[in-house]
Order: sequence, then structure tokens, then C-alpha cells
Amino acid sequence: MVTAKDLAAIILLMLWYSTPAYVANGLAVILGKNSRPIDNYKVFIDGRRILGDGKTIGGFIGGIMVGFLATIIQLPFRGLILSFALETAIREGISTTVICRIPSLIAATSFSGFLMRGFLLSLGAMLGDLIGSFIKRRLGLERGAPCIPLDQLDFIIVALLIGSLVTPIPLQYILVFLAVTFIAHITANFIAYKLGAKNRFP
Ligand code: CTP
Ligand code: MG
Repeated sequence: MVTAKDLAAIILLMLWYSTPAYVANGLAVILGKNSRPIDNYKVFIDGRRILGDGKTIGGFIGGIMVGFLATIIQLPFRGLILSFALETAIREGISTTVICRIPSLIAATSFSGFLMRGFLLSLGAMLGDLIGSFIKRRLGLERGAPCIPLDQLDFIIVALLIGSLVTPIPLQYILVFLAVTFIAHITANFIAYKLGAKNRFP
């Protein structure tokens, strides 16, 4: 049985774990400004753009770089966060099955494993984003056209899959986190729309 506290713990652990993917995906928007499209304006056999103007070399490479930078920033804090998480989890009575996952989710198993995982999460986020756009173009959707839930989840699905090469994650954790990511994205877009920063919702 998963308690509400277990669920909260899983979400917090997954937030820390997937930070590089979030950073990569979030900052690609800024880093891709005025950069060349990855597909070099080429069209696919269906006559539509392979990826479209929204997927640039600058966004892709820049996203991976800032995602990895986020990993380097996380690196020195992982020991501290790990002991804090274990202490809190034990005090709050979190299930042992969740507690057992804490060390690998927070710190990976080694220094190099942690760095490799951060790189894979960033790469996975950017690849997932590309795959999402590729699918959207095949569905006949123009660049920027909303496509729920692909827009919200493409980056995180592939990031978590590739990240699992270093730290395997239970499927339930992935599903919980997909739901959280989806809700967070929709909420952020709604707020941006209400504030006038975006001209359409979603
Ligand atoms: N971006 C980029 N390069 C990437 C990913 C994103 O330059 N590899 C930038 C683009 O300026 C893009 C913006 O980030 O417009 C937002 O990303 P996203 O929402 O994924 O792209 P869309 O413009 O919505 O295009 P698509 O319909 O293909 O998702
Ligand atoms: Mg989009």
C-alpha cells in the first residue's frame, strides 16, 4: 500500500532525479533563439517538414549543455540531500520499499554514474522533444500547434527511459511523475496565458 506520504516522497525524489531533464527542456526555448533548424528545412516523404522550425541545433546542444551544468551543480549537494532525505523519510514513517530507493535516486551509485545519468537525462529530454515534434509533423500539426499530452510529456518519457540505463526506476514512480509533470505543465501554461505571456492555452 502506498500512503500519501510515500507519494509525496516519490514526487520529491523524482523532482531531484529529473532536474537535468527539466532544465534542458526549459532552457532550450531561450538557447534556440535565432539558431538553425536541425532538419535544415528538409521535408519528409509526406511532404511536411521533418521536425520544423521549433527544433534548432542551438536549442538541442544548448539544452544538453545546461542540463549537464545542472547536474554539475547538483553533484556536491547529493550527499547532504541524501542524508537529509533518509533522516526525514525514517522520521516520517515512509515505507521501506520507498526508502530503499532513496540512495540510488538521489546520488546514483558513483560519482561518474551521477554525471553520466545527468548527461543521459539531458540528452533524453532533448531527444524526446525531437521525437514529439516528429510525431506532430506526421500528424499534420504545424509547429507550435498544441498536442496534448505529447507536448507536456515527450521530453520526460524519453529522459526517464534513457536515465534508467544508470538508475532503474519502478514503473509506478514513472507514472506518478508523468501525471505530476502533465499537471505542472498545464498549470504553468495557464498562468502564463492569464498573465499575457502566452497568447493561447494550452
Ligand atoms: N527550441 C529550440 N530547439 C529545440 C527545442 C526547442 O530552438 N531543440 C525552442 C524553439 O524556439 C521552440 C521553443 O523552444 O519554438 C519551444 O519548444 P517546443 O514547445 O518544444 O516547440 P514548438 O515551437 O511548440 O514546436 P513543436 O510544434 O515542434 O513542438
Ligand atoms: Mg510546443
